[in-house]
Amino acid sequence: MEQEILHNTSSSQIKTSPLRGLGGDSIHVFAPATVANVVCGFDVLGFAVNEPGDEVIMRLTDKPGITISKITGDDGRLPLDPARNTVSVSVQHYLESVGRPDVGLDIELHKKMPIGSGLGSSSASTVAGLFAVKTLLGDDTDVAKLLPFAMKGEEMACGHGHADNVAPALLGGFVLIRSYEPLDVIRLPHPKDLYCAIVFPDVDVPTREARQIIRKQINMKDAVTQWGNIAGLVSGLFMQDVDLIGRSMQDVLVEPVRSILIPDFYKLRELAMNAGAVGFGISGSGPSVFAFARHEDTARQITQLLQRHLTALKIGSFAYVSTINDAGPRVIG
Ligand code: HSE
Repeated sequence: MEQEILHNTSSSQIKTSPLRGLGGDSIHVFAPATVANVVCGFDVLGFAVNEPGDEVIMRLTDKPGITISKITGDDGRLPLDPARNTVSVSVQHYLESVGRPDVGLDIELHKKMPIGSGLGSSSASTVAGLFAVKTLLGDDTDVAKLLPFAMKGEEMACGHGHADNVAPALLGGFVLIRSYEPLDVIRLPHPKDLYCAIVFPDVDVPTREARQIIRKQINMKDAVTQWGNIAGLVSGLFMQDVDLIGRSMQDVLVEPVRSILIPDFYKLRELAMNAGAVGFGISGSGPSVFAFARHEDTARQITQLLQRHLTALKIGSFAYVSTINDAGPRVIG
């Protein structure tokens, strides 16, 4: 059974010896979208999917410093200024950490998923950038060592450096953040034939705002329900027990508040569950929703039903069906 414990990952563990440019002069990297929280595990659980994902093309240049020459797919919303873009800021932190602030880099960012979608859009871009620079410089340290830099990007994007998007985007698979201080990230097993149906209703829900509306205090009864479900979900993953996974996908803390940001959330849930979903909930901070299903056909049927309902509400949508992506970022050119 696959399980990997990545203890106490900190930037100080990055090797600081001069790195060589073993990866050639340019590289094209894909990093996956992620579903964070997985309903009950606010800020501590997440998994990567096969699609969508963002792409970064990075080139070594003669002039020290980072430039961003192009961003596509963002409708002009993301800054080209390297001091304000999460990808370049994370990469700059990494370069300083490995003792190579002298390196010159040009970045092209190709967004292949909506921004503010709840699919870990900023995380996918940041992870693609970090994986690109690591590979370009021939840095063969464990990819998990990039996590603190990716979290810096997340902090910049939404005001909080949570890891439940960046960790699965970077490591692939299903990930538990057991602790933030010190950082303790655990890769969990999962049933191989679990299909994830994702639907993004085209309304904007910025993570920063979706975090601000969450209650700051919770009562003991709700806490007991929540940690029972988290433990149940993790047990279900280890036991490959899809029913247990499904009945643990309940959130009494965050979903009741955030669901108001998502059009007809409870109707979408009813449609998904009646169509055979194992479990259903908000992906990350929303507005995307996701369902697990036992079969690809069921997952596709769920996306069709949800999209049809959103169309009736005059809300556009995108849908994706994927198994869990165990690979994380990859070089595609
Ligand atoms: N755990 C984070 C949140 C994920 O729910 O705010 C953001 O995508």
